[in-house]
Amino acid sequence: MKVADLPDRIRGLKREKNAVILAHNYQLPEVQDVADFVGDSLGLSLEARKTEADLIVFCGVHFMAETAKILNPARKVLMPDPQAGCPMADMINGAQLAEMKQRHPQAKVVCYINSTAEVKALSDLCCTSGNALEVVASLGKEEVLFVPDQYLGSWVEEKLGRRMILWSGYCNIHVRITPEALLEARREHPQALAMAHPECPPAVRNLADYVASTSQMVTFPETVSAREFIVATESGILHQLGKKYPDRRFYPAEKRSICPNMKKTSLEKVLWCLEDEKTEILVEDSVARQAGVCIRRMLELRK
Ligand code: 13P
Ligand code: SF4
Repeated sequence: MKVADLPDRIRGLKREKNAVILAHNYQLPEVQDVADFVGDSLGLSLEARKTEADLIVFCGVHFMAETAKILNPARKVLMPDPQAGCPMADMINGAQLAEMKQRHPQAKVVCYINSTAEVKALSDLCCTSGNALEVVASLGKEEVLFVPDQYLGSWVEEKLGRRMILWSGYCNIHVRITPEALLEARREHPQALAMAHPECPPAVRNLADYVASTSQMVTFPETVSAREFIVATESGILHQLGKKYPDRRFYPAEKRSICPNMKKTSLEKVLWCLEDEKTEILVEDSVARQAGVCIRRMLELRK
């Protein structure tokens, strides 16, 4: 089969099998273009929860597909490449969290959605970069243990003016974006507004005009008159931005901010996974039940 025929073949098989393709904003452009929905972790969770398709083909990383399975256990969830993981999610495991909880028995545990189902099962509340402020604010003055991303955690601390106990995880892609790189981009594009993801370290976030999740970045240009934007996050998002705003210009703060795990999903793998249905994502029942409580509490806050 010719590469050019892959999208049609995928769409045909998707219809035949009543499948839905969900893709994260960091996926390869051609993968985003065959998806039924492209979004951030929060948007993808909401789509996964409500879909009535028999198959969910999840183009993203492992914790996202796990979350989809937990929220909609009756569906078969497939990943085109189940080896696509998130190194940050693996920076804390269940045993480490259990030990932290013992040391801080009063603390409520808030886990970033970039965490394993095992960690979610031991947490009180989940959050995404799109709702972390709202989630932590809902806990009032309670002591909070925040895992695994120290930078998303420190952003919440700054914005809410409170302290939390932070785990020391980080995204190895976002820490590659340095303040020097952002300043250089600002010098090159003096008219541009800078958007940064809260996974960026504080020195980078402090230089940005807008700090937000990937989907919030996709809607931000609608709300301002600026024509140029510097983008401090994984570069896959430039595809959605370019599609949505063909008359505006978007520049990566750091060209090398590419997540190799997000790029493991190719069109060929999407097709093979639809054909074979072998790369299914399953979550052990008791873990799924407990993790589901933690994720649903977050989704309930939106109502
Ligand atoms: P969001 O798309 O939720 O902002 O998350 C970014 C991310 O790192 C996903 O792995
Ligand atoms: Fe994980 Fe960072 Fe890749 Fe997102 S960009 S999947 S946080 S490693």
